[in-house]
Amino acid sequence: MASETITIIDNRTGKQYDVPITDETVRAIDLRQIKVKDDDFGLMTYDPAFMNTAACRSAITFIDGDRGILRYRGYPIEQIADKASFLEVAYLLNEGELPTKPQLEQWTGDIQYHTYVHTNIIKFLEGFRYDAHPMGMLLGIVGALSTFYPDAKHIDDPANRYAQRVRLMAKLPTIAAYIFRHSRGLPYELPRNDLDYIGNFVNMTFSIGGKHEPNPVLQKALEILLILHADHEQNCSTSAVRAVGSSGVDPFSAVSAGIAALYGPSHGGANEAVLVMLDEIGSADRIPAFIDSVKAGHGRLMGFGHRVYKSYDPRAKLIKAVADDVFKQTGLNPKLEIALELERIALSDEYFIKRKLYPNVDFYSGLIYQAMGYPTDYFTVLFAMGRLPGWLAQWEEMINDKEQKIARPRQIFTGKDERAFVPMAKR
Ligand code: CMC
Repeated sequence: MASETITIIDNRTGKQYDVPITDETVRAIDLRQIKVKDDDFGLMTYDPAFMNTAACRSAITFIDGDRGILRYRGYPIEQIADKASFLEVAYLLNEGELPTKPQLEQWTGDIQYHTYVHTNIIKFLEGFRYDAHPMGMLLGIVGALSTFYPDAKHIDDPANRYAQRVRLMAKLPTIAAYIFRHSRGLPYELPRNDLDYIGNFVNMTFSIGGKHEPNPVLQKALEILLILHADHEQNCSTSAVRAVGSSGVDPFSAVSAGIAALYGPSHGGANEAVLVMLDEIGSADRIPAFIDSVKAGHGRLMGFGHRVYKSYDPRAKLIKAVADDVFKQTGLNPKLEIALELERIALSDEYFIKRKLYPNVDFYSGLIYQAMGYPTDYFTVLFAMGRLPGWLAQWEEMINDKEQKIARPRQIFTGKDERAFVPMAKR
């Protein structure tokens, strides 16, 4: 068998190095031995935006971007979305296996027990203007949770970590719902532990005077959407949770960093940006002009393209099916027609074909959230609720990984060499 190494010849010195290959990967640190002089720092790799760098080993989520495959702990996303509940998926991601009945009961019970938030949270909320962006409120409040649970800093204790994971799973829907009510000036609706995870959240958002008639189709659709968002390996927000968590901070602070990363329009904020884009396009006859302007470099087709998927995002396929169910209940949204036509044109256009740009998870999700009654600026909060179990599972995995240390990338310094301070009069 051929040796699992790569031979590198440094043409500056003529020296040869054999570098081991494991899992089709070379360790960047193995390149450090490559030097011209003994006191050189050694060779580094340069990889802005981590285009080709694995930062961890992970057993949670598998993606094959060329073949459009997504699996949580080995289970295909299509089966998971069809058969599992959101809390089952959260358990699977965090514990590695699907729960047995007693395990699911325990997990659900633990989460239900912690759904209430300290009433001081409401005081924070009230400090925000009614039109504050929901993601800004969410990241602030989740970060503030660490002050309510100072014990969460004991991250070396597995039981303590479990308790904080449960708290976050339990309280995020409550906080998200309170944000929804704050934006509308509605009184807050307390959690109801006789309802399931999704039912309780929907009740806390939409209930008026304690009354809400749930629509089971819409509730199931929301559950599937959250499942489809539950983890996506080392994306921007998950990498933020891992990087911030690697400093040893409590999980509330690390997760609030993830929420901040998710907020951006290139990441979770794309679902909001898609709706803004569809509004701007306005009607199907303006699509060709819009596509031309994207091709000319004026903005992007939001909800299209992905760093990893170079074929149809499997989540987008499933979401399209969910959209059919939802629109049967709520009636067609004229923006859906624009979105479908936009997709049709983009998928047959050379610009998008050449760059392998396909609809991603955010292209249709916003239309569904809107049909359910959520406002545009709230969509990314729903994404955050979905992604939370993934952030927690990845945080836990990072803590248990003996190879991980504080995240600390290197740089190539491009600034001035040493120079003498110039006094004010001489500048
Ligand atoms: N519309 C038009 N052109 C695009 C788009 C787009 N949505 N996405 C990428 N391109 C072009 C880009 O201009 C570049 O062209 P060229 O080679 O001529 O310079 C080429 O495709 C490669 O783009 P890139 O920016 O190098 O790709 P990336 O892997 O860095 O970016 C992305 C991935 C998701 C940030 C990007 O596709 C994008 O901005 N999409 C729109 C925002 C969006 O929908 N984000 C949600 C992502 S899925 C949910 C999530 O995980 O957050």
